Amino acid sequence: MVDLKTKEIDRLILSATTARDQAYAPHSHFYVGAALLMNDGTVVIGCNVENASYSMCLCAERVAASSAIAAGYREWRAIAIASVGGVAPCGACRQFLAEFGLDLPVITTDILDGSYKVRNLKHLFPEAFDGSSLPHHA
Ligand code: THU
Repeated sequence: MVDLKTKEIDRLILSATTARDQAYAPHSHFYVGAALLMNDGTVVIGCNVENASYSMCLCAERVAASSAIAAGYREWRAIAIASVGGVAPCGACRQFLAEFGLDLPVITTDILDGSYKVRNLKHLFPEAFDGSSLPHHA
């Protein structure tokens, strides 16, 4: 299902873990890093950015995805997410990532022991609502 090399997984986990160091999470103290791998080998990172007005908090995954889009990358090879406990993306981030393809391999890693899981986005987000659900879709 997921054709990722161990070297790519290791590199992406390291990038997500390093990105986590920049997380701004003074309210929850839950620090998350994300790293997206592009087909040309470029890695784009993100971290969560919180706000005193809680609903404005940004998740690491959406920061990374938005940075990739802004840098001109719309096709992604994989994403890694680093946190204590190795959490999977929240529902909003699953929806956000699904916009750019449900085949995306999602690597979640627990920074405490380095363990990780690799799952496909469509496994985490079955029956997604996407552009094909809209009436004007070609
Ligand atoms: N958070 C992420 O950045 N990614 C996730 O997948 C789960 C949650 C952040 C949002 C908020 O800053 C903090 O973790 C606690 O929910």
